[in-house]
Amino acid sequence: MNCFGARPGEDAMTNQTESTRQSLQRGNRGRTKLAVALDVPGQEQALELARRLAGHVGLFKVGLELFAAAGPTLIKKLVDMDYEIFLDLKLHDIPATVRRAAQRVGDLHVSYLTVHTGDGPTIVQACVEGASHHPELKVLGVTVLTSLDQKELSRVGIERPIEELVRLRAESAIRAGCHGLVCSPKEVQMLRTQHPDTTLVVPGIRPAWGEAKRDDQARVATPAQATAWGANVLVVGRPIRDSDDPAGAADRITEEISSVFNEIR
Ligand code: C5P
Repeated sequence: MNCFGARPGEDAMTNQTESTRQSLQRGNRGRTKLAVALDVPGQEQALELARRLAGHVGLFKVGLELFAAAGPTLIKKLVDMDYEIFLDLKLHDIPATVRRAAQRVGDLHVSYLTVHTGDGPTIVQACVEGASHHPELKVLGVTVLTSLDQKELSRVGIERPIEELVRLRAESAIRAGCHGLVCSPKEVQMLRTQHPDTTLVVPGIRPAWGEAKRDDQARVATPAQATAWGANVLVVGRPIRDSDDPAGAADRITEEISSVFNEIR
């Protein structure tokens, strides 16, 4: 079996390898990075997980739970430890508030900040403007959350197929100045074709070797699949956080990413 699940000699492998080569040529010519989501309740647990992953992971994602608990103090500690930080606040408010919040986030010297794209480009543009005071800060537009499916969206009156919604929001976010997009693995190929040079950040990653627990992620793929389709950053939380050996789990994912690049050489 190769890393895409096809056996050597099968046509599927040839086709898969060719389409992978094309995806990688279009977008992530370098390497696909792993971002570990520090989805833990407080500073102590975050620093403990970061310590266990030291030397294995260089990019951490801090989300709402941890930011609410430990905030800028923890971010400063992680930045001082030379980690790259992705602050996943998914800003969603009126433009003036989002602009000012993005400016304050920039003061924290993080590398990535997220903003929702679902309420139109003016909010996204305000976020980009606020972040522009800090040239190292990249704004990522969240297209459609990876936990959502068609049924859930139709409960709030959205009947458009998810892929179309992602395409529309991505287009609008890029026009508004976003540096990158957050999407599910299922939309990576489409967005890679549509926006060849945009950073694609992809949660909803579930390694085939992980425990098959049911959780809230609806649109998922393995690290190898998401990499082959053209993701630049894979966001992984529970499969690493909940592992008995988080560093070992991170290494397996990194090896899986490398195997995709090795396979197409
Ligand atoms: O535990 P799991 O691997 O599902 O973690 C995924 C992380 O990515 C979570 O921190 C979640 O907040 C975040 N995320 C997501 N879907 C998005 C954007 C961010 O799952 N569209």
